[in-house]
Amino acid sequence: AGASEFVVVANRLPVDLETLPDGSTRWKRSPGGLVTALEPILRGKSGAWVGWPGVPDTDLGPIVEDGIELHPVRLSSQEVADYYEGFSNATLWPLYHDVIVKPVYDRSWWNAYVEVNRRFAEAASEAAAEGATVWIQDYQLQLVPKMLRMLRPDLTIGFFLHIPFPPVELFMQMPWRTEIVEGLLGADLIGFHLPGGAQNFLYLARRLAGQPTSRGNVGVRSKLGVVQVGFRNVRVGAFPISIDSGKLDELSRSKVVRDRAKQIRKELGNPKRIMLGVDRLDYTKGIDVRLNAIRELLEEGRIDPAENIMVQLATPSRERVESYIQMRGDIEQQVGRINGEFGQVGRPVVHYLHRPIPREELVAFFVAADVMLVTPLRDGMNLVAKEYVACRSDLGGALLLSEFTGAAAELRQAYLTNPHDLDGVKDSMVEALTQDREAGRRRMRALRRQVLAHDVDRWAKSFLSALARDSVAGSALL
Ligand code: G6P
Repeated sequence: AGASEFVVVANRLPVDLETLPDGSTRWKRSPGGLVTALEPILRGKSGAWVGWPGVPDTDLGPIVEDGIELHPVRLSSQEVADYYEGFSNATLWPLYHDVIVKPVYDRSWWNAYVEVNRRFAEAASEAAAEGATVWIQDYQLQLVPKMLRMLRPDLTIGFFLHIPFPPVELFMQMPWRTEIVEGLLGADLIGFHLPGGAQNFLYLARRLAGQPTSRGNVGVRSKLGVVQVGFRNVRVGAFPISIDSGKLDELSRSKVVRDRAKQIRKELGNPKRIMLGVDRLDYTKGIDVRLNAIRELLEEGRIDPAENIMVQLATPSRERVESYIQMRGDIEQQVGRINGEFGQVGRPVVHYLHRPIPREELVAFFVAADVMLVTPLRDGMNLVAKEYVACRSDLGGALLLSEFTGAAAELRQAYLTNPHDLDGVKDSMVEALTQDREAGRRRMRALRRQVLAHDVDRWAKSFLSALARDSVAGSALL
């Protein structure tokens, strides 16, 4: 047994090892919502984080970075290709996001997934003290709960899925569906963002692995369901994740950020309205949807290119996966087409950056933007929507939000839209662009009440306190 009472296990460490042109290395913050959510929690708990440092073939011992003990897990280049780019991001990711692109089922990828999950389980077992709590994260590590339980029956094991859990009909495509469900059932508590995901899982667990509880009808009307696996009770529930709202609110009020926001508006030529998109460059995010909507609105003369501009900040992501390469090309072509038809020299309609953006600069963009465009075709939660709201202490701005995000369940005062209905998106966009100031402030006030009250700390506490309750007490919650 190791020394840590609390261990987070995630595919990525909260920082990535980056190699600079001169060959030296430095740590930089990892992309994505998982890290955004979990980093502040671990910082306050002085625990350990087991994860991959983001580059292949690197052997590193444990390091302490920013008060968090990091335990790097080594992946070979072949494993990065098969386990990470392959099974995680060309099989599970599209399958769990409504098969927006077709998942690839490859047996050698699956073998690599099993092997790498075993390595993570071993690393977690080495880091965790006797009786410790281990919290495993996300779709890349769904076999770790069972593997870790076999190694260390003394541990309390939680699992949280940061992406949607798919409908039963889709999940049944997975050739290794029983292995995955059984892998997850190694945990004491399995968390999803939404009750729908928890229900999908409960149904599959009954069908493929565990026995139903005597209460029958598990989880349909309750927040927490239970699956019996042998003599163990595995609890299943919905825990919508959030952000460090207080800290973002504070940052957005600072003078540096306010000044930078004004400067951004000026640099963009002081347009009447700025629309903003902030995403990892991913086909689930519906970046193409918003670009199509804007192009048609321009073509129809419903928005004026001299007054309305858009900024799309896209963080590079999974750049060697085929579907991502293709989508990048498509989006860049769309941007070029819009600017070619409607821009002026020195005055593009769509400003597009493909690079990671520093945190403070991002907050300044949130403050500067009149309409935030969040249009995913499917998204587990979408923390960018919540970040935008947390940054609008001035009650300005409007949030256009896809109904197909987890966030839509909580952010009811946003301009909600169906990303598959292009006319609907266009109408919502125009509505948000032309909203009455007072009505806009009322919406933003209501959104802020929700986001400020339900922060990431509350999310972690509610998951971890449910995990700490013993299984018998947990089942009484049905
Ligand atoms: C999503 C996933 C995370 C992942 C992040 C960034 O938020 O839920 O597990 O870390 O995207 O993606 P990447 O493949 O770069 O880790």
